[in-house]
Amino acid sequence: MTTPLRIGFLGAGLIAAYHSKSLKRSGAPVVRAGVYDPDTDRAEAFAAASGHTVCRSVDEVLDGCDAVYICTWTNSHPELLARAVARGRHVFCEKPLAFTADEAQRMADAADAAGVTHQVGLVLRHSPAYVWAKQLVDDPAAGRVMTVVFRDDQFIPIQGHYASTWRGDVSLVGAGTLLEHSIHDVDMLRYLVGDVRRVSAHMGYFHGLDGIDDVATASLRFAGGATGVLNSVWHDNLARPSLRRVEIFCERRHIVIDGDDWFGPVSWTDSDGGSGSLEGEHLSAAANDLRDGTDNPDGEFVRAVLEGRQATPDLHTAVAAHRIVDAMYASAAADGNTVDV
Ligand SMILES: NC(=O)c1ccc[n+]([C@@H]2O[C@H](COP(=O)([O-])OP(=O)(O)OC[C@H]3O[C@@H](n4cnc5c(N)ncnc54)[C@H](O)[C@@H]3O)[C@@H](O)[C@H]2O)c1
Repeated sequence: MTTPLRIGFLGAGLIAAYHSKSLKRSGAPVVRAGVYDPDTDRAEAFAAASGHTVCRSVDEVLDGCDAVYICTWTNSHPELLARAVARGRHVFCEKPLAFTADEAQRMADAADAAGVTHQVGLVLRHSPAYVWAKQLVDDPAAGRVMTVVFRDDQFIPIQGHYASTWRGDVSLVGAGTLLEHSIHDVDMLRYLVGDVRRVSAHMGYFHGLDGIDDVATASLRFAGGATGVLNSVWHDNLARPSLRRVEIFCERRHIVIDGDDWFGPVSWTDSDGGSGSLEGEHLSAAANDLRDGTDNPDGEFVRAVLEGRQATPDLHTAVAAHRIVDAMYASAAADGNTVDV
């Protein structure tokens, strides 16, 4: 019989609640250990809903768990991860890992050196929509990827149901829509099309918040020869909470991911007249047939720890996305000059 894994939580906000519910859904064998959040009301509400025990400090959580979720504001991820891996705790750290790629690299190196299992919250790696789209891209019948258009828009999350004022404070969040939100998109561009060699980017700051980009428009040159465009915006249209549309043009196939990030639809049309579209449970089932796991990132983390292997996606996957994000900010600072990744 497998010994259950004792799970701790640092931070008891929105994403901590998501992972806690997702762990429950996964059916993974876990024991609910400590949770710490300096906002004690939040810690108590989280504990009441999940069965965790409220702790008075980070150390108390780390002392009582085997694996820890780091779900705090981005500014504290590096320090908390360093403390967790120094104690030999397995870590699930939310994205972005840090404010810069170099800092993210140090985190990944420290986790490797400690010999722990590590995973990052780049959850779209487990999304049925993206797993299915990747299979459509990789199919030799599609030909090579020629170009991709990736649009991501949401209302700036310092308002509405997110109400996360910290996302307007550069000392806590690091930057705006590109780093905080569209690091997911950069990661998906790498996943679908491959490594990025060169970028050129421009940012907008319409809300006038210091260091918080609310428009990021980037042009990408991939190692395989494809080009791409990423357009990310934090607007004030509360009717649009978080929406992505991705169009991939291969030599002989056109693929569109639209609607829901997880359940699609994903549609495709081929030069031989063939076409298809999958969404919802059908998309989920088709994607699960392509992999031995499920679409649950938290089940994957616990399984990886218990099997003594590395998890997917690990911290190095995040570092690669951070490198591209850093290059985009450097390009924007130089008024769109091309920057090598
Ligand atoms: N993977 C995703 O799709 C996704 C989605 C949302 C947020 N996130 C990331 O998760 C992190 C948290 O975001 P959120 O939306 O849950 O924010 P949130 O404000 O809802 O929750 C964060 C909590 O962390 C607490 N906190 C801050 N510093 C702490 C510390 N040193 N120790 C313990 N607790 C601390 C805060 O008091 C707050 O309650 C951010 O890095 C964010 O980018 C990822």
